[in-house]
Amino acid sequence: MAQKLAELRESPESTAVVVIGAGPAGLTVGNLLRRSGIDCVVLERRTRERVAQRQRAGIVETRAVRMFDSWGLADQVLGGAPSDGLMEFRVDGESHLVSDDDDSEGPRARLCPQQVLVQKLTAVYLADGGDLRFEAADISLHDLTGDRPTVHYRTADGTLRAITCTFVAGCDGDHGISRAAVPNGALTAHTFEHGIGWLTILADAPPPARPLLAVSPHGFAAHFARGPHASRYYLQCPPDDHPDAWPDSRIWDALRTRLADPALVPGPITDREIFRLRSLVHDPMQYGRLFLVGDAAHIVSPLGGKGMNLALYDADLFARAVRDSVHDHDDTGLHTYSQRCLRRVWNDQEFSHWLTRTLHDAGDDTHSGPFQRGLARARLDRLFTSRNAARTFAELMTGLNPVPDAGAQNGPGPGAAAARGKASASDW
Ligand code: APR
Repeated sequence: MAQKLAELRESPESTAVVVIGAGPAGLTVGNLLRRSGIDCVVLERRTRERVAQRQRAGIVETRAVRMFDSWGLADQVLGGAPSDGLMEFRVDGESHLVSDDDDSEGPRARLCPQQVLVQKLTAVYLADGGDLRFEAADISLHDLTGDRPTVHYRTADGTLRAITCTFVAGCDGDHGISRAAVPNGALTAHTFEHGIGWLTILADAPPPARPLLAVSPHGFAAHFARGPHASRYYLQCPPDDHPDAWPDSRIWDALRTRLADPALVPGPITDREIFRLRSLVHDPMQYGRLFLVGDAAHIVSPLGGKGMNLALYDADLFARAVRDSVHDHDDTGLHTYSQRCLRRVWNDQEFSHWLTRTLHDAGDDTHSGPFQRGLARARLDRLFTSRNAARTFAELMTGLNPVPDAGAQNGPGPGAAAARGKASASDW
């Protein structure tokens, strides 16, 4: 083993960027780098089939659609139907439609399930001649603060491989090896537990006409499309609840009650899980030549649909920063990467937190008490009646609301230090 590693160090492969993880973040980074004429290798530990089937987010927000459009990729990578921009809030059975139309010109959000986006990004990347290696096991990162980091991994047949590179994109989610490779103390983790559980189910059942969020004294519930014949549902539950406590009949009864829809059509349940709502931000999103992208750097609670969209935002900023560095020897984008990403991360965390609190507190006053319930109801009233409140909501939903750019001069957090000066290579 030691001899093998020594041999690998003698003759490693070489590329500009090694991307760890082939989820939405990693595949977007790979595609954008290829479009920029920059060499990269994407390493993914699962099989192509497993990656292609992973069902999670469902909406590509307007800003992200326009991002892909600006790279000439929107038609190729976005499946699903264009969204009509309307979302239904059903409060004690009363329906309120809220629009995400902010009057801006250009293509709009798409109801594109994450697995469809991942399948298409994979196909386009490979058709472009991209290097994507599945079943890459035991990935380890070395010399991240040196000039040429090295990535070691093991192929499916057990062969050890080494790749040297200029940058590593850590796109391997919350439980990946990238962030774990950063020494203790180099990053600060800001975490928040919402004290709320969600039972989430996928079912082969008719999707709703539009995303539906329901508030009732029985607890929060939601119903989203996941393709033409499938739905995802959410039911608020105690954080320590267990899926076994939710047989099918209980699930459909609770959904009918909370969605105030006695005629709700059930279907075979293909997946059920309980998770706790939590939020997490790592600051900075960089260590040496390792850049964290997407869930590897932050987790957003699901309401507002920002998790995948933030990953796409990071991927775009990272690819443009590498392009500027490689083609124009301009490292400004790399040095401001963390700071710029974090401004939008906190913006989206705030939106998601606001929506989470509002929709849970407004229904169930056993959760936060009657005072918080009154506040949450007042926020919903404002959203349903004030044009300005509705417009602010629309801007946040689309992702088009401006956040201070670069934030490099006076933003908080350790990333600001790197963002301020033009660092030399030894500062990576
Ligand atoms: N080595 C290689 N690949 C890994 C490793 C590892 N040690 N650990 C994880 N991966 C892969 C996973 O198999 C997965 O394909 O990295 C990928 C990470 O993808 P996601 O978890 O989907 O994260 P990201 O690409 O940042 O996508 C953003 O937004 O809607 C949310 O959480 C949802 O997954 C979504 C995310």
